[in-house]
Amino acid sequence: MNAPAELAQVVASAPDETLGYRSFTLGSFGFRRDEYFAHITWKTRDGRPLSHTMDVGNFLRALMRDVAWGFFYGGVNFDHVLGTVNKYESVDLYAGSCNGTMKEAGVDLLENFPTPQIRATFEQMLDDWTNDGFDPFAAPQETGTAYGRKNGNNTARITRARELAKRCVGLKDDLALRTDERGAPVNRAFADVPQDMPELHPEPGFEDQVHAFNLFAFLSRSQVTWNPSFTSVVKYSFMCPTTEEHILPIIHANDRVEWFFQMTDEIHWDCADKNTGKPLARVIMKAGDMAAMPAYCRHQGYSPKRSMLLVWENGSPTLVYEIQKGESPEVPVRF
Ligand code: PHB
Ligand code: FE
Repeated sequence: MNAPAELAQVVASAPDETLGYRSFTLGSFGFRRDEYFAHITWKTRDGRPLSHTMDVGNFLRALMRDVAWGFFYGGVNFDHVLGTVNKYESVDLYAGSCNGTMKEAGVDLLENFPTPQIRATFEQMLDDWTNDGFDPFAAPQETGTAYGRKNGNNTARITRARELAKRCVGLKDDLALRTDERGAPVNRAFADVPQDMPELHPEPGFEDQVHAFNLFAFLSRSQVTWNPSFTSVVKYSFMCPTTEEHILPIIHANDRVEWFFQMTDEIHWDCADKNTGKPLARVIMKAGDMAAMPAYCRHQGYSPKRSMLLVWENGSPTLVYEIQKGESPEVPVRF
């Protein structure tokens, strides 16, 4: 989308003479990186200066998802302090606002930005701070380091097109299947996944309507982690499978119910109240388990081995407002 130039203006410093990185300003927030850390600064409502520090690898992995997913559904917490909330035409950026202790202490700050402005700032920060050889979408064992002084860029890896089927992967004029030739070899963890395709015998005239593909084979060839793609779309029902390894780099705060189907291996989830961070549940999901995350929770997953997870999203653009008005439930079922 082309944004009006004045909405997409980015405030950045010249590169630091020693480290080589730019610093960025967005409203009252400052962002600076050094060899190991991202430093976030802001002023409280009564003018006190505050700062927060994140490991720069974790910061870039979270920033990558926020940028690639267009600020996602609801809240994207980079950690227990910093995060964004998608308001769908604008985005809230906050420090401490979803942290019960910081809110109580009055040291939190939330500012709202037009989406093109925060998007442009985040995109430029991601590009300037991601060095050659570091891929924020890759599993930690499959990428180089995020640390050190500025060393080139990795623009190709941070601008991957999001894989979104219109109807279904593999249909004519839709998202293509993954193959060696298209640069998608089978991942080391999925060497045993059969690559055969289902047999299809549509009646003449129905060749574009009757369809099937091997979802396990498709996922075995994912080059990234914690990055759901759309493999089938029926109205607002989005099937978003993904391969997971290590830690979901964000703590996702739902604004709707979301379903998880653990298709292989296992993921351990920490679930908490989305407004305060107060722990609510640990959910240990093994192959074959299903769970629904209520709209009031936030969650972060830990995948000890590369695993396959199906995320099922309700993409209705009115759902979030129906939930706010109490017309739609925050939970999938009441017992
Ligand atoms: C989620 O927040 O629900 C989520 C995000 C990315 C994934 C899996 C789950 O890869
Ligand atoms: Fe989620």
